[in-house]
Amino acid sequence: EKGGFEHFMLKEIYEQPRAILDTYRGRLLAKQGIIKMAGVDENLEKLLNANRIIIVACGTSWHAGLVAEYIFEDLARIPVEVEYASEFRYRNPVITDKDVLIAISQSGETADTLAAIKLAKEKGAFVFGVCNVVGSSIARETDAGAYTHAGPEIGVASTKAFTTQITVLTLIALKLAKEKGVFTTTRFHEYLTELEQIPAKVEKALESNALVEIIAEVYKDSTNCLYLGRGYNFPVALEGALKLKEISYIHAEGYPAAEMKHGPIALIDEHMPVVVIATNKGHYEKVVSNIQEIKSRKGKIIAVVTQGDQQVKELADHVIEIPETLESLTPLLTTIPLQLLSYHIAVMRGCNVDQPRNLAKSVTVE
Ligand code: F6R
Repeated sequence: EKGGFEHFMLKEIYEQPRAILDTYRGRLLAKQGIIKMAGVDENLEKLLNANRIIIVACGTSWHAGLVAEYIFEDLARIPVEVEYASEFRYRNPVITDKDVLIAISQSGETADTLAAIKLAKEKGAFVFGVCNVVGSSIARETDAGAYTHAGPEIGVASTKAFTTQITVLTLIALKLAKEKGVFTTTRFHEYLTELEQIPAKVEKALESNALVEIIAEVYKDSTNCLYLGRGYNFPVALEGALKLKEISYIHAEGYPAAEMKHGPIALIDEHMPVVVIATNKGHYEKVVSNIQEIKSRKGKIIAVVTQGDQQVKELADHVIEIPETLESLTPLLTTIPLQLLSYHIAVMRGCNVDQPRNLAKSVTVE
């Protein structure tokens, strides 16, 4: 059942090239230059005329929502707010029938997300679901939606659900960008062609596994860990930290890299590993100066960089390379080594990787 892997989590990490392919199969038609998604096609007007998109989710799905905020605003120029479902539902939010709510949920059973959907529907908003589990409560409650098609995710720590959620949301954003006319045909094509390369590039990113295992050995006894990223990779930093804390029980925090100087920098000493996402696009130079600040305080730097990087290599204690891609697609690759890092550290610490203490795969109570 684990297909030769020691744990479901590792199996599911390795399934990502396939899962992402399954997510866009039949939807992304690069040669014809179209994206076909029934749930979007049938509700195009509602989506295009939305005043704003409100994304609600919990946990890892909320992190996918944060990535989607960057994607929708940057590519489709639609204002987006991302909310924890639990906060949204109880704070008397301002919602109108001009709003579109996107709910993201792997299980489709998360109680807070479901309640947020019901609230938004009452206020007249159009509700779109991004779920993995077919026929789940959230899939049934939403007005329309798109499944991730990641296949069953058994490991409690979400992995392939995250990358396939981002894939679905990217497809939607690209489609809206095209329909709105904010994307030229050339640019649209460039994205479609690059998206088709992603499974192979994820495969490449997975080749970092042996190196990541060596790095895990070095830091497995740490008591704290900081994750930093900017722009599209800020949510990836949050997700990296969540993965580490939930399965290895090491305290970890994710931060936008520039926020470090507003507090967390005080934590840095020679015992603090800092995972920094420093891909070559999007604020690269700024991230490099953040790395210098960590280094001068003797923090240990584990950097995720683009293949062929020179500058960070000279500063960091460890560098993990991922293939080059469009900036907005980097989260699909930068996430991979962070998943592997938390996996190996948890295994080395003797933790129950697939069923971490106190956690359940679906959170059906608030
Ligand atoms: C983290 C994790 C949780 C879920 C969260 C939402 O690895 O699995 O944080 O992401 O409970 O679950 P879904 O996506 O099923 O609504």
